[in-house]
Amino acid sequence: MPDTYQIEADAALGRDSMTLSQHVLQQLDSFGPEAQDLSAIMNRIAFAAKLVSRRLTRAGLVEDAMGFTGRQNVQGESVKKMDVYANDVFITVFQQSGLVCRLVSEEMDDIYHLNESCSTSRYTLLYDPIDGSSNVDINLNVGSIFALRRQQGNDIDQTGADLLTPGHDQLAAGYVLYGPSTVFVYSMGKGVHAFTLDPSLGEFILASENIQIPEHGSNYSVNEGNFWQWADPFRDYIRYMHRHEGYSGRYSGALVGDFHRILMQGGVFLYPGTLKKPEGKLRLLYESAPLAFLAEQAGGRAIVGDRQPVLDVQPNGIHMRTPLIIGSAEDVALVESFLQERSLEQAPLSTPAR
Ligand code: AHG
Ligand code: MN
Ligand code: MN
Repeated sequence: MPDTYQIEADAALGRDSMTLSQHVLQQLDSFGPEAQDLSAIMNRIAFAAKLVSRRLTRAGLVEDAMGFTGRQNVQGESVKKMDVYANDVFITVFQQSGLVCRLVSEEMDDIYHLNESCSTSRYTLLYDPIDGSSNVDINLNVGSIFALRRQQGNDIDQTGADLLTPGHDQLAAGYVLYGPSTVFVYSMGKGVHAFTLDPSLGEFILASENIQIPEHGSNYSVNEGNFWQWADPFRDYIRYMHRHEGYSGRYSGALVGDFHRILMQGGVFLYPGTLKKPEGKLRLLYESAPLAFLAEQAGGRAIVGDRQPVLDVQPNGIHMRTPLIIGSAEDVALVESFLQERSLEQAPLSTPAR
């Protein structure tokens, strides 16, 4: 018998070779068909991210990368050229892949069926192709958000009714942050893990495993331009932040970037309902619920209001919106304490008068 070849202990080589698809297999502790499918799906999402990242890095140089299309999406929001490009990227990378049967996107009114894959796959990918697209034209961070769900039942009438279940049913969720480096963060229900795109390899390489949101952080992230439109508890909370030492306002206009800061450093992100949009702005199935899944996996919290976890919300449609309060457990609880004070109709918190 020949001697078994032994790899010499090289920590750097071990670290550099943990790719995303390999990590998924390790997480599932299996090489079975389902584990192979999930690993391949994650790899295809990563490929979509590389295509989007490549275009973003050259946005000022190539035609039709910046600016608006002149159209509005189903949400009534102006669609940017990069929104369309990234949406098409996700469709293209999953066409003929046999991996995903249905796609749900912020940029498509209805569910998109990849019929050729439905005989082999019963997964649905829900995604926000470009999150924070107002940042594209000024070269600031944007992201992509995704969730993966397993199809329940046959969906013969193709209504996608099985998708309208709480976020606990997500099989996996994650986001890609296109910043100075491109970072892929995901969870399959076994912790939250981050990968950095190494452009020299064209691979996402493991950067941080089992990320935990700090119990408390100094960042609060909210569009204070909406102050005049908020309910009193949110105004009271922001007044409290203004009057106490130790807090920093941080808001980039792109949820993925703002959430990533909070995931790594702690704090809270809020998008409450407003007078014009009482249900808030963020979409449950492909923005709030995937990030809530990550927040809870990382030891944080995500609620829509007093004591109601985002992951418990029953969707009433694929583009449903909800308010969002997400981040460190202590900081979410502080916001919640203001909501509870009001709901119990107690005296307002004793913050100094303005
Ligand atoms: P999208 O670009 O996918 O429509 O998402 C934009 C979202 C989110 O990224 C961000 O937190 C929020 O909208 C910003 O909204 P305001 O400009 O109202 O603050
Ligand atoms: Mn978005
Ligand atoms: Mn978007």
